[in-house]
Amino acid sequence: MSDTLLAQVPLISMKDQASDPEGFAQELGRSFQRFGFAMVSDHGVPQDVVDRAWAATKAFFALPEEEKRRYFVEGGGGARGLTPFKTEIAKGATHVDLKEFWHVGRELPKGHRFEELMAPNIWPDRPEGFRDTFLNLFKALDDAGDRLLSAIARYLGLAPDWFDHAVKDGNSVLRLLHYPPVPADAPEVRAGAHEDINLITLLLGAEEAGLQLLDRTGEWLPVSPPEGAMVVNVGDMLQRLTNHVLPSTTHRVVNPPPERRGHARYSMPFFLHPAPDFLIKALPQCVTPENPEREPPITAHDYLAERLAEIGLTKK
Ligand code: OGA
Ligand code: NI
Repeated sequence: MSDTLLAQVPLISMKDQASDPEGFAQELGRSFQRFGFAMVSDHGVPQDVVDRAWAATKAFFALPEEEKRRYFVEGGGGARGLTPFKTEIAKGATHVDLKEFWHVGRELPKGHRFEELMAPNIWPDRPEGFRDTFLNLFKALDDAGDRLLSAIARYLGLAPDWFDHAVKDGNSVLRLLHYPPVPADAPEVRAGAHEDINLITLLLGAEEAGLQLLDRTGEWLPVSPPEGAMVVNVGDMLQRLTNHVLPSTTHRVVNPPPERRGHARYSMPFFLHPAPDFLIKALPQCVTPENPEREPPITAHDYLAERLAEIGLTKK
């Protein structure tokens, strides 16, 4: 059978990372290098924290439209609060996405040196407990992200703590996504083909079908994690840092088959970003005569600003 027919993103467990960090690093790194994606179980994000987050997400998006609109920050580029339905458009796409979302960022102490670059969070009055729920989830995803990056560092031959400094007080964003039920004749897709901007993305909620990656074979492969597992993927910043050794793979969320069109889809991607002043510069071990440096160095902040303008969230 050809490689094409067998291609499937593997499910890997994080359970033995502590006792066998090298084994986990190889599994994750190989999956990233082949697909730009991995499915990870036993990721350590507590189930009760995740359950509360789903309940709060569903309750928030069920609020009246005009109440939700109060949390749209005019001119804020969607960095915090609500981005209403049909705002974001994938780079180069002709239709807007069929989604609305909420962004939670990192809480910084007053007077922090990144205060000017990372907007403060805003919080809805309802549902109750929203703030605590998502600060807890943010923390748990931050920790899981650190463990995943430590494995990536090992895979790349770097010190296991190499990313600690890069991501300390990083500009990560937790996105709560609501894809409402889809009309039978919708010409759009739930989320058009795109690449993520950040270092890595930790995605909860992809159990509801629709997520697909564009494999290097040219085929769209479904990414269908088992209940509770997380989808993790490489973003453009890690691709740039690794001089494309780890690919930032194009992905999309397609509309469901007719019998599921009446159902909403919810997901929670955590876009793990470096600190704004981190310099994304191709790692020397990823630059070879066969793979010369592809892109010049750029700070994480400048790169993000460039990319947000392209997806319609900020004006050029
Ligand atoms: C994204 C994304 C996938 C999903 O928001 O960048 O790819 O399953 N989401 O919602
Ligand atoms: Ni994405």
